[in-house]
Amino acid sequence: MVQLTSLLGLLAVFSTGIQAHDTPEFFNLVPRGDNKKECPPLHRGSFIVDYFQLYPENADWDEERCVLWIGSLWNATVGIYDPYKDKILDVLSFPGISLTLAHIGGVARDPYSGLISILSNSGNPWATGGADITGERQIMKYDPQKKKVLWARNMTDISRDRYGGFQDVEHDNRGNTYIVGTYPGVIIRVDKNGRELTEWYLHQPLSPTTRKGYSGLAVVKGTDIMLASDGDGRLYRFDLREERGRPVNVPLSPEGLHLNLDAIYLPPKYGGSVLLVADLFLGIQVLRSKDGTWRKAENLGTIPKPATLGGLVIDGAVVAPVQMGSNSLYMVIGNVDPFIPGMVAGNRTLFPFPDITDQVEGLLNRK
Ligand SMILES: *[C@@H]1O[C@H](CO)[C@@H](O)[C@H](O)[C@H]1NC(C)=O
Ligand SMILES: *[C@@H]1O[C@H](CO)[C@@H](O)[C@H](O)[C@H]1NC(C)=O
Ligand SMILES: *[C@@H]1O[C@H](CO)[C@@H](O)[C@H](O)[C@H]1NC(C)=O
Repeated sequence: MVQLTSLLGLLAVFSTGIQAHDTPEFFNLVPRGDNKKECPPLHRGSFIVDYFQLYPENADWDEERCVLWIGSLWNATVGIYDPYKDKILDVLSFPGISLTLAHIGGVARDPYSGLISILSNSGNPWATGGADITGERQIMKYDPQKKKVLWARNMTDISRDRYGGFQDVEHDNRGNTYIVGTYPGVIIRVDKNGRELTEWYLHQPLSPTTRKGYSGLAVVKGTDIMLASDGDGRLYRFDLREERGRPVNVPLSPEGLHLNLDAIYLPPKYGGSVLLVADLFLGIQVLRSKDGTWRKAENLGTIPKPATLGGLVIDGAVVAPVQMGSNSLYMVIGNVDPFIPGMVAGNRTLFPFPDITDQVEGLLNRK
């Protein structure tokens, strides 16, 4: 049903009329839940994870446990991967979500609370380019110490049939969680107990759901600066202290994000001054704001997806960038395969993680 058309649904791109506003000021905030020690560097280069139906989508590095949290798209489970031992330590399942037609994409660790935010969403928006946004959409807060979901919120009541396609999540230091809905590009804020949901940013007037809006969110750790990549090829900046989100265009030199965007990521190793942007077909675009304020940014170039890895053909799309260890940067590759009859995912077991550490360094050093 949703399988083959899913990535193709991401092709719908429309333009927006967002205007630039004046530049807000930013305070520095200190992440609380963070460990003081740094994870050891990872010296593996590119590698392949061998795990049945892992199908990674969004992923986040856990600086406290030194593991990778992986949204496993088709099964709608969450994998916890130890890249030092090359081992999937655990696969989390969620009743009513896992092994249904829901997907789990957005997974992110809140650096302030240490909790993990997990987003489930129906595949419908991606299968139909936003024409059908019905189905499952929940935010779950997982406590990795207690090993349980602390709370979950169904986002259907607030979004109704007006917007959907929830796929990325971020946090501020007041306990709020920000969730991006891509069709047509909205941001929901959820308070720390999961009780109050606010439509923090909506296009006014609200665009049709077939407009592909924000694909990813990234907060500069320790600040109130949040970046969002838009389907119109622009990067926007938000100030998380504001009661309602106000997108401010970040001028890029040269202008132009790619147009088939997915997750965006500020690798911890660069302390918020380098943004990696995934384009499904073109690879990882590298942007830099030397002072980390993101009032403007250099657009340094794009790292293409390699064709093969150790004899394995890389036939998937580039869905996210991620850091592992204190040093290494990777592409996350997503795949769309015909489902095994009676299952909700394809038959793949080998998932490549191309190392892009040196290529990112190369682009940063060129200027
Ligand atoms: C996906 O689900 C199948 C069972 O349907 C299971 O064998 C497999 O290990 C699961 N993989 C992941 C990553 O959830
Ligand atoms: C979420 O809410 C909608 C609308 O009330 C409902 O149809 C759906 O079953 C709920 N989902 C879950 C998982 O509870
Ligand atoms: C997976 O299924 C495809 C057909 O959908 C087939 O060509 C391929 O050989 C299968 N791979 C494995 C490892 O079973």
